Amino acid sequence: MSILQSCEDNIDDTYNSNDSGNDDGTVNEDNQIVIDISASPHTDLMQVNGTSSLGSNSIDNLGLLLIRSSESRVKAFSRRCTHSSYSVNSFNIHGEAICSSGHGGSFNTNGGVSNGPPSTSLQSYSTSLEGNQLTITK
Ligand code: FES
Repeated sequence: MSILQSCEDNIDDTYNSNDSGNDDGTVNEDNQIVIDISASPHTDLMQVNGTSSLGSNSIDNLGLLLIRSSESRVKAFSRRCTHSSYSVNSFNIHGEAICSSGHGGSFNTNGGVSNGPPSTSLQSYSTSLEGNQLTITK
């Protein structure tokens, strides 16, 4: 990926990326999204540092970025860039989510800004992980 060539000294190959995103989960009666992370296309979330993403849904109309941050936790962030609300692409293999606008903004796996012009972190959502069932709450 040519856009990442300047970062080769900092490559962390432990991050997995999944951008196929056809399964956006089911919405339950509490307006929570429930995902089976053992099923395609979210199986990368079975491992710590694995990532996945969701398209537009009832929690966030630009979709969600997901990362398995520990054995017991998956973090969920809005894909709405905090600069000018363009969509943020899925995490790449280096754990960076680059804004689709072309303005140069990007975010790290904590949702924080890794490259401006955005000045604030991505919005995060509450999650719970029970077995292979991930629940995301607005
Ligand atoms: S909208 Fe994302 S960097 Fe400008």
